[in-house]
Amino acid sequence: MNALQRDLKRLVPLMESLETPRVAADPHRQQFHIQPPVGWLNDPNGLCKIGDTYHVFYQYSPFNPDGGVKMWAHVTSTDLLYWEQQPVILYPDEPFDCHGAYSGSALYEDGQLWLFYTGNIKLPEGDHINTGRENNLCLATSRDGITIDTKTCLLHNRDYPDGLSCHVRDPKVWAQDGRYYLVMGARTADGQGEVLVFESSDKLHWHHCNTLTTPQPTGYMWECPDLFELDGQWYLMTSPQGMECQNQYGCGYFPLYGDFRGEYTLGEFHLLDHGFDYYAPQSFTDGVRRLQFGWMGMPDASYTNPTARQGWQHCLTVPRELTRAADDSLLQTPAAELKALRGEAVSLAANQTQTVGPCFELAAVPLGSFCLTVAEGLVLSYDEASRTVSLRFTDAALGSGREERHLTLEEPCRALQVLADASSLEIFLNGGAAVLSTRYYPAPGPVPVRLNGTDATLWPLALS
Ligand code: FRU
Repeated sequence: MNALQRDLKRLVPLMESLETPRVAADPHRQQFHIQPPVGWLNDPNGLCKIGDTYHVFYQYSPFNPDGGVKMWAHVTSTDLLYWEQQPVILYPDEPFDCHGAYSGSALYEDGQLWLFYTGNIKLPEGDHINTGRENNLCLATSRDGITIDTKTCLLHNRDYPDGLSCHVRDPKVWAQDGRYYLVMGARTADGQGEVLVFESSDKLHWHHCNTLTTPQPTGYMWECPDLFELDGQWYLMTSPQGMECQNQYGCGYFPLYGDFRGEYTLGEFHLLDHGFDYYAPQSFTDGVRRLQFGWMGMPDASYTNPTARQGWQHCLTVPRELTRAADDSLLQTPAAELKALRGEAVSLAANQTQTVGPCFELAAVPLGSFCLTVAEGLVLSYDEASRTVSLRFTDAALGSGREERHLTLEEPCRALQVLADASSLEIFLNGGAAVLSTRYYPAPGPVPVRLNGTDATLWPLALS
């Protein structure tokens, strides 16, 4: 262990114990979402299940709630509801990752965790796009899932294909047909987003075997790619920076037809989420189903989160199960385990106000237009004639700078499900054909909920 790692290993718990009282006193602390003990969280990383235990890692900056040097935090769970904090597993403590142990993914094989991640280096000179930055492909192994045994740099920028900027990162790895593959997001030297596919027979030596992109540029950089087969259909997921959309950056998927190693075409790009706060998701299979966590945040957003003043910022979404719809689009639904949070169901008659929560679930089967008002300041409205949905903050204090998002549904809205935690809403329409996620900041205490246009069922949610 080098001195940098030794000192960071002492400083992180020290910072956590100093800041925890202030953070824990925040009424906007979430109840059932993964959130940082203190400081800043972004992308989910290294998702996997080993035996009965789910492992979630995430980008963590404990020293600054507005983001700072990134390391990998670690939480575990056997039920996807209670998350136990483990020690930070990856520190930025080597010459090849010392300005950030950036995003990546995990493979569990031969009794070891193989963590592939990006070692970020930002040099003093350069524009940090085409010069002055290194994005290294790194590997860390761990036998106990708690401490790292080995750390190596597998590829440097000079090993990547020609024609790229310095931005090449976020390896997502998997095993298939007796070989290993990984995808990394990239920005070309002339500013086009793409995904590089690498192949290996031993997890240590990787060679570039294909590049996936759209004929016309979709943004200038594709972050956090994920590539998987679901029910016979391949999907390429990524978070493109620089594409036209309502949020600062996009986040979605293309159905991929053909062979990701050879001839392929990408279908239409679908946004994964139409709310304010959703980025950099990662998926994994737990042996039975494909689950996905996203970061319930947005880089470089104009709006803010008041929790930063309390010493912490951001959380992940709930785990969502992905399934393939008949038209090859993806459906996202909260993992079934979350139903265990429900208390006794209460009927919510149309146009009546019920006070509940602050954590609650709402389900309705609308037959026409409806309007849901939460905390007298956040309004979800659906217009049957145009099939348009809008999510709008009518009380600016609740949105902390967020204003309005809208979308048009493919089909009339016949199912509404809302999961509310202390400072977030995740809204699933038509069985997860469209999703809207947002952070919000209601006054402390129970929350008034009103649904015009249809009856609904409400459940208080709590960890027992
Ligand atoms: C996406 C991202 C990744 C990077 C990580 C750094 O939010 O920018 O591309 O690896 O965050 O924290």
